[in-house]
Amino acid sequence: MRHRSDLDASPPVHREMGDSLDRSVFHKSLPVLAARVPSPKAGILLKSEALKRCIIDLPKIKSVLSDPTGAKDTRLVLFRVAQEGTVADLPHEARQFLHGQSADLITHSVDLDYDYWTADEILHAVLPEELCDEAPSGFAITGHIAHINLNDEYLPYKHLIGQVVLDKNKVVRTVVNKLNSIDAKFRFFKMELLAGDPDYLVEHHESNCRFVFDFTRVYWNSRLHTEHDRLVQLFQPEDVVADVFAGVGPFAVPAAKKGCAVLANDLNPDSYLYLKKNIDLNRVSDLVRPFCEDGRDFLKSIMQRAAQQPFPPYKDPKELKSRSRHAPPPAKTPTSRTESPPRKRISHFVMNLPDSAIEFLDAFRGILSGGDPERNLSGIYDVMPMVHCHCFTRELEPDKAAKDIRARVEEKLGYKFTDDDEVSLHLVRSVAPNKEMYCISFRLPRAVVYA
Ligand SMILES: C[S@@+](CC[C@H](N)C(=O)[O-])C[C@H]1O[C@@H](n2cnc3c(N)ncnc32)[C@H](O)[C@@H]1O
Repeated sequence: MRHRSDLDASPPVHREMGDSLDRSVFHKSLPVLAARVPSPKAGILLKSEALKRCIIDLPKIKSVLSDPTGAKDTRLVLFRVAQEGTVADLPHEARQFLHGQSADLITHSVDLDYDYWTADEILHAVLPEELCDEAPSGFAITGHIAHINLNDEYLPYKHLIGQVVLDKNKVVRTVVNKLNSIDAKFRFFKMELLAGDPDYLVEHHESNCRFVFDFTRVYWNSRLHTEHDRLVQLFQPEDVVADVFAGVGPFAVPAAKKGCAVLANDLNPDSYLYLKKNIDLNRVSDLVRPFCEDGRDFLKSIMQRAAQQPFPPYKDPKELKSRSRHAPPPAKTPTSRTESPPRKRISHFVMNLPDSAIEFLDAFRGILSGGDPERNLSGIYDVMPMVHCHCFTRELEPDKAAKDIRARVEEKLGYKFTDDDEVSLHLVRSVAPNKEMYCISFRLPRAVVYA
């Protein structure tokens, strides 16, 4: 890739390296036309209309330098002209101006090395030409780990690519290639080390929360950041949220940070371990209860459990602060009228297991029915919870996707939505050329839970 300049600052081409990076071959000396002027005049040259388009504009290269001879009272102003000591390429106006300023024109050598060029530029210089167009300098970052998804044709160069990505990105300490296989049960990616430390324990920041986890043992996808934020924004601080497939807590922890009470579940023992760590790390242990159960068992009993062991009422932190600043705390009376009741009712279910979450929806059938008065939660569930269920579809047209997803959801719920039902669909992202991820949100129909 050439810079926007007459100078050719592209790296030297070395396609013979194979899979092992040799940084030492990346050297280039660019002979650049420069004006040596008394120091106070350097600013005049930079501001002059006549030289406006002639000053060097290479990334990371300064246009004014101290004089390499060591003279303290002179400076070099570099031009974007590669001629050896001739002013021929400068426009007439520029030449006249320089003459008027008694500038001494010389050739200055700008030395570039491996550190100068971007990852993209280096890869274009070392990969076989036919692989350059799609050169994989793009990657996702989780904590200190950069993960690339290399196509088969790049595999012979995978360590070289990994090393360049590592060298060129300060926050990256480890570069991995995501392998095509994904753990069938717990959805985490299998990966191979390309460059850097074999350290997979990451600390990642999202939505003002800290998450730690072992990237080789649990599911994490930084591309879901906006989806995590979107759902958390739908929740009110007073809400109780049940996260059925919680992972290490990217919905649960931020929701708790805004005041929600959260029942967070994940069947993967490693996810559960890091979920608990993240709850502690973010100081939300009074608001998040972690579970390690199969999603179906969790769904079947969680409404009862939330009612039997309610969360304390939501307290606005601002109110608490101003109360403690301005007045003594009110006398504690259990029947105090101003106090909201404990939180027993789940307002939202989050079901982010797109591959199969829909399959779990039949667990909602009849969960509030039965003669047992203990199970009768109708007094609590005056408003039914919203369910946010993630799923994949191969239908790319929005209308067809909606039809496909609704049909599968209706089949599992054993219920056909009517125009009176609250149902909406949100396109989360395209995961592959012919695969979209959606989130269907609907209010749980009474007919289903009392079936
Ligand atoms: C796609 S990940 C989503 C994690 C997290 N909610 C997020 O947004 O990053 C799905 C999670 O469901 C968990 N999981 C898979 N099968 C499960 C099951 N039968 N019951 C409960 N959790 C399950 C996996 O361990 C994984 O952490």
